[in-house]
Amino acid sequence: MEETVRIGIRMARPADVADIAHVYVESWRDTYAGILPDTGLVRMSKAEHAATWTRTIKHANLRNPVLVAADTKSNIYGFASAGPTRDKSLQFEGEVYTLYVAPGWTGQGIGAGLLASLFRLFGKGGYNGMIIWALADNPSRFFYEAMGGQLVAERQHPMWGKTFREIAYGWHKLDIGRPKQRVGRNAEPEPPL
Ligand SMILES: CC(C)(COP(=O)(O)OP(=O)(O)OC[C@H]1O[C@@H](n2cnc3c(N)ncnc32)[C@H](O)[C@@H]1OP(=O)(O)O)[C@@H](O)C(=O)NCCC(=O)NCCS
Repeated sequence: MEETVRIGIRMARPADVADIAHVYVESWRDTYAGILPDTGLVRMSKAEHAATWTRTIKHANLRNPVLVAADTKSNIYGFASAGPTRDKSLQFEGEVYTLYVAPGWTGQGIGAGLLASLFRLFGKGGYNGMIIWALADNPSRFFYEAMGGQLVAERQHPMWGKTFREIAYGWHKLDIGRPKQRVGRNAEPEPPL
């Protein structure tokens, strides 16, 4: 019988960066294979991303949070970061910059738990609305629709020498409710932050 892992959501710590970079790079390779150029995906460096996340976590706070879904031994199963929206022409003050669940751990409520925690923090922080950009070809975008996001904008985004269509989902009301508690294969997300 598989052991049940209890996963809770907390602010990221400097010691989490190697795991965050691992989840980030593995999730990109898994999700964007066939969507983004293989050469770019292969070249992604966990060491470089760990250095970037070290800087991001150093400057993180409740208005610019980096959250991790972690077990009691600090194994990381997913993470998310957010802050002020980068496109000031949009009527949403907050933006989810990144949201990734480790391949093999998706579909167990971890993404919904991370998003609900970000919304709760941003609601408390007085942000007016929230937006997230996703590649139009990423099937994970339907997750945002399942979470009640409305398609609010699109743009062309240059990356790795090519241009990709991105779409934005927005929420005016920062309350997606409490994610369903579910016991997946062996994950048992605890109530969010
Ligand atoms: C997108 C992602 C963050 C969702 O996290 P997750 O833990 O897999 O999702 P959850 O288990 O919390 O799902 C919550 C709900 O969304 C639905 N959902 C999740 N992924 C979905 C998808 N691709 N399409 C449609 N619905 C989806 C679930 O069915 C669930 O619905 P329910 O509450 O009615 O049962 C995760 O799958 C992921 O990291 N994907 C790869 C990386 C990525 O694309 N990140 C986003 C970059 S913009």
